[in-house]
Amino acid sequence: MSPSAEAQPQPVAPATTTAPILRVEHVTHAFGGVNAINDCSFEVQTGSITALIGPNGAGKSTMVNVISGFYPLQQGQILFDGQSVRGLAAHSIAQRGLIRTFQISRDYGAMTVLENLMVPPKHQVGENLFNVFFRPWLVAREEKELVRKALDMLNTFGLYEKREDYARSLSGGQKRLLEMARALMADPKMLLLDEPMAGVNPALADRLAQHIMDLRGKGLTVLMIEHNLGIVDQIAQDVVVMANGTTLARGTMVEIRSHPEVISAYLGGA
Ligand SMILES: Nc1ncnc2c1ncn2[C@@H]1O[C@H](COP(=O)(O)OP(=O)(O)OP(=O)(O)O)[C@@H](O)[C@H]1O
Ligand SMILES: [Mg+2]
Repeated sequence: MSPSAEAQPQPVAPATTTAPILRVEHVTHAFGGVNAINDCSFEVQTGSITALIGPNGAGKSTMVNVISGFYPLQQGQILFDGQSVRGLAAHSIAQRGLIRTFQISRDYGAMTVLENLMVPPKHQVGENLFNVFFRPWLVAREEKELVRKALDMLNTFGLYEKREDYARSLSGGQKRLLEMARALMADPKMLLLDEPMAGVNPALADRLAQHIMDLRGKGLTVLMIEHNLGIVDQIAQDVVVMANGTTLARGTMVEIRSHPEVISAYLGGA
């Protein structure tokens, strides 16, 4: 790199590598004959924070549901870490390291904050009945490690003091933090977030943004749907714009802002 190139101001650090961890190729998804996603393709670079933006109804949430296996892949191809996710159930995709967050539902609200983190662990030895009956010490050890890990996680997200409280007693913002902490218990390679800062006050949104940047620092890849372009500007290296079920543009936020079709379809109207 030449000295002059080094001197260029960089609002956000570029993605650490150029290899895509996720490839979405010509995906189409219909609800009752109506295409919510229509021949949509894009890539997510390993180690990047990639923002998925676009007007209401563009198909962003549907895309996250298809990628995570929550909806079966109808048409097209999705490769995660070089392997097709076709035909895999959501939990199998999660086991491969691609995890999405879920809202704290009513069932989970009736559990404590700590219990919420204890529920979704993958490959838990205790799930195996043979181990429960014949190797209880293994189960006990795993449980202890899990509690330690969960408490560490709560500490990171500033929820340690709330560990014995019911999840339903948390504020909206704290629930968002818990959702993220819960997803991270499974040690994902990549995290899918659908509007993680929606309805959160600006101070907490900043904290969530910092957490997401910290995750990237630890080597995670993040694909997040986000309407707040200020936040996208601040943390995303790559932006994918969806409109009418397909990719309208992709690039850095600076490139996206000057894209004529994006301006007329999205930014101009916003
Ligand atoms: N379960 C469903 N059944 C039928 N139609 C659906 C379903 N989910 C989404 N759609 C439709 O698919 C299209 C894409 O919706 P989607 O929720 O993916 O958009 P979005 O980009 O996430 O929008 P928003 O920014 O408002 O969250 C919309 O026309 C929506 O009405
Ligand atoms: Mg949505």
